Amino acid sequence: MNILIVDDEELQRNLLQGFLEKQGYLVMAAADGSEALQLFMEHPIELALLDHRMPEMNGDELLARLKDINPALRVIMITAFGDVDTAVRVMQLGADDFMEKPVDLAVLLERIQQFEEKILVENDVDELEDILDTGDLPVRMVAESPAMKSLLSLTLRAAATPWTVLIHGETGTGKELVARLIHLLSPRKDKPFVELNCAAVPENLFESELFGHEKGSFTGATSRRRGLFEQADGGTLLLDEAGELPLAMQAKLLRALQEHKIIRIGGEKPLPVDVRIIAATNRDLRQMVEQGLFREDLYFRLNVIALDIPPLRRRKEDLQPLMTFFLKKFGIRADFDGKAMALLAKYNYPGNVRELEHILQRTLTLARTSTITVRDLPPEVKNYHGSGGSGDLNQRLAEMERRMIVDALEAADWIQTRAAESLGISERVLRYKMEKMGIRKKQRKS
Ligand SMILES: Nc1ncnc2c1ncn2[C@@H]1O[C@H](COP(=O)(O)OP(=O)(O)OP(=O)(O)O)[C@@H](O)[C@H]1O
Ligand SMILES: [Mg+2]
Repeated sequence: MNILIVDDEELQRNLLQGFLEKQGYLVMAAADGSEALQLFMEHPIELALLDHRMPEMNGDELLARLKDINPALRVIMITAFGDVDTAVRVMQLGADDFMEKPVDLAVLLERIQQFEEKILVENDVDELEDILDTGDLPVRMVAESPAMKSLLSLTLRAAATPWTVLIHGETGTGKELVARLIHLLSPRKDKPFVELNCAAVPENLFESELFGHEKGSFTGATSRRRGLFEQADGGTLLLDEAGELPLAMQAKLLRALQEHKIIRIGGEKPLPVDVRIIAATNRDLRQMVEQGLFREDLYFRLNVIALDIPPLRRRKEDLQPLMTFFLKKFGIRADFDGKAMALLAKYNYPGNVRELEHILQRTLTLARTSTITVRDLPPEVKNYHGSGGSGDLNQRLAEMERRMIVDALEAADWIQTRAAESLGISERVLRYKMEKMGIRKKQRKS
């Protein structure tokens, strides 16, 4: 990553530059805003560390001009110790982070590494979106939330490898969609993608289903049959609901994966097969291993790359884009009024994306006008009153944090020093949080 340091103090500049260069970064330094702009135009810079207080062009202005030229640039503003107002303001102006002087180098390094991680994910997602837009992939996948973006990034990386992938997620989260995407993005894309729903196969037919059989090998085997491994040769085999694999089958499957060979039932010689396996499940396979319901060796064999798809209720940022996506897919124009939208946003979607799609389908089919109101929504959404215990962890934590802060402030008569002390945080942090959450003392009418 290329980093630009802008600081009018030579000592500080050299300190930061020396430290970051030692970490292997390409670092440029400028003593003022105009020098910074010049370097910025000439070099591909991804991160800028700006001293806020500088003569001539100050940090605010430089931040604005740099972001104008390249909105994707990351900026960490370095502010004076305890200057919370400035810190809050530069964050509102579009800085990605701020740090107080004196800069803690270990913390700085950590933040930079987080940015690098994010940049990697974004590059992957950009690349994937390009492929999805221009290519002829028959799949679309909505991924607006940070969680889904990093999942897409992992998906893209996983696709390029030959390794087994284990996709975990609740029902309707898109496991099958991700599996297809991996296949279509992989070098095997022109070969078959074969699916087996392990929950739907009777135990006694499993082996024949996977490995095939020779004619007459058992009663009813009236002709030779190729199993799914042979059908998927050169391509990908999705073992859906892999948690339902019978134990006896697990051993045989493991052997096939280890040896890249299968034997048809009643057959004699092993047949080489070249199949990439993707397994999907909504069950906790690790727990099943502990309970003796799933072989540990097979679990490790499948879990080379693990993809965990979060439930929809934990990534509500995806809700609106998914709704737009489905409306477009149905070819229907409709608006949701504020109250209806609020209820849809509050609902917990135990059936995840599939349930959302069905709810929209039902609602739009039955609605009388193109503006959807609460009346049009299905009862489970209309009558949803929150789940009490569970729900979105982050949202609940944020609510709890807010309540604790307001309570502490009330108890301390809104004297921030005291409230901060009772909360065990610094006053600076308290003020930052208050600003961020918009917490203000209510004006009492006298
Ligand atoms: N991010 C997404 N963007 C667009 N469509 C999605 C997305 N996630 C899921 N879907 C759609 O939701 C439906 C359910 O997805 P999918 O069948 O892949 O879920 P699943 O996890 O395999 O569910 P199950 O565990 O019930 O088998 C599909 O129609 C799929 O196309
Ligand atoms: Mg599925």
